[in-house]
Amino acid sequence: MHIAILGRQPAISIAELERVYGDVSWFSDVSALVGAEYIDITRLGGSQKTGLVILQVPGHDWHAASMKIVQHYSKVWAKQAKKITLGISAYGFKESPRDIQKTGLILKGKLKSTGTSLRLIPNQAAALSTATSHHNKLGLSNTKVELIVVKGQSGIVVAESTGAQHITSLAARDQGRPKRDAFVGMLPPKLAQIMVNLAGPLGVAGNDKGSPRVLDPFCGTGVILQEAGLMNYAVYGTDLSEKMIDFTRQNLKWIADKDNLNLDVTLHVGDAMTTTWEIPVDAVVAEGYLGQPFSAPPSSSKLMEVRGNTNHILSEFLKNLAEQIKPGTPVVLAVPAWKHTDGHFTHLPLVVKVEELGYRYVEMRTVRPHQLLYFRPDQVVAREILVLVKK
Ligand SMILES: C[S@@+](CC[C@H](N)C(=O)[O-])C[C@H]1O[C@@H](n2cnc3c(N)ncnc32)[C@H](O)[C@@H]1O
Repeated sequence: MHIAILGRQPAISIAELERVYGDVSWFSDVSALVGAEYIDITRLGGSQKTGLVILQVPGHDWHAASMKIVQHYSKVWAKQAKKITLGISAYGFKESPRDIQKTGLILKGKLKSTGTSLRLIPNQAAALSTATSHHNKLGLSNTKVELIVVKGQSGIVVAESTGAQHITSLAARDQGRPKRDAFVGMLPPKLAQIMVNLAGPLGVAGNDKGSPRVLDPFCGTGVILQEAGLMNYAVYGTDLSEKMIDFTRQNLKWIADKDNLNLDVTLHVGDAMTTTWEIPVDAVVAEGYLGQPFSAPPSSSKLMEVRGNTNHILSEFLKNLAEQIKPGTPVVLAVPAWKHTDGHFTHLPLVVKVEELGYRYVEMRTVRPHQLLYFRPDQVVAREILVLVKK
């Protein structure tokens, strides 16, 4: 069993895990248990760290967990020829970083008497940041270990990290792309990765190359297709704008050259409300038209105008698509929702009309459909992620 430390928006992160691994449950409000033999963190956009569960400690007391850790690892690591680098990250405890570090210091003392040398990574906070774990390569070899200790409702779990989010390559994919466009928007690669994963495991509908094909009918600069390509899917993009098709082409060429990928790419201009797509399409993943950006909440008349406009485009798109794809095809669509100063959201009318448009929501055990809202605290326009399947 594994534990995953969820990202800034835990509901979205756990939904991604459930769609990829199936056997997933909440452990605490920042973590999930995953009943899988192996987890590839580089495939996940929503998890900060993953770890293999080694010990389960009853109760909720840090000191009990600390004693168990010292007892276990002073035996396992006794008389090691190689130096061990250790980081300890605690989640959900009220203890200070110093208290957490103390466990490492006690262990270091015990190991020293057996001849094992331990380098302890200093904790600025109770848990090491993803950046610290990533830069120290913790979890990536036997001698670079991070213990992830999490307090959940049912007790305490101690896990050995199997890696942290690869922030260097995510940043390179985001900032290194030759074509970016601030007006069309900047979908973060990790959200694109989450959205592709939310489509679930894909079967092949019969294209000759043998890889399932992902369509993005609002492809913009191609971030979703870039991430889908990295997951070995064939990629298919359409957009209203010729310029965007050109940007996607250049960006996909860049990622293919950089990562030595043989990408199967199809691109053409098309209005998503009326265009005819080439079949097969095994999944549709898109950030739809979000309307104009706002830096402050708009007046209610302006909001109603933008909401009406985007709702029209996206409903017509969904109707057009439903006539062309096979029943059972997953459709993951980010649509706008507008945040008000009191924290509530105005949603698109279509989010409660998907049945009439030819779809149903994918049922998940860990989250309900309208919990999948992605936004930064300072953003007015949130992305509501609809995880649908064609009826
Ligand atoms: C929010 S952006 C998507 C950005 C994209 N995720 C990216 O990686 O850059 C929406 C895109 O939808 C396109 N668009 C707007 N209306 C459209 C329509 N009716 N049919 C197809 N594309 C449309 C715009 O040109 C824009 O590129």
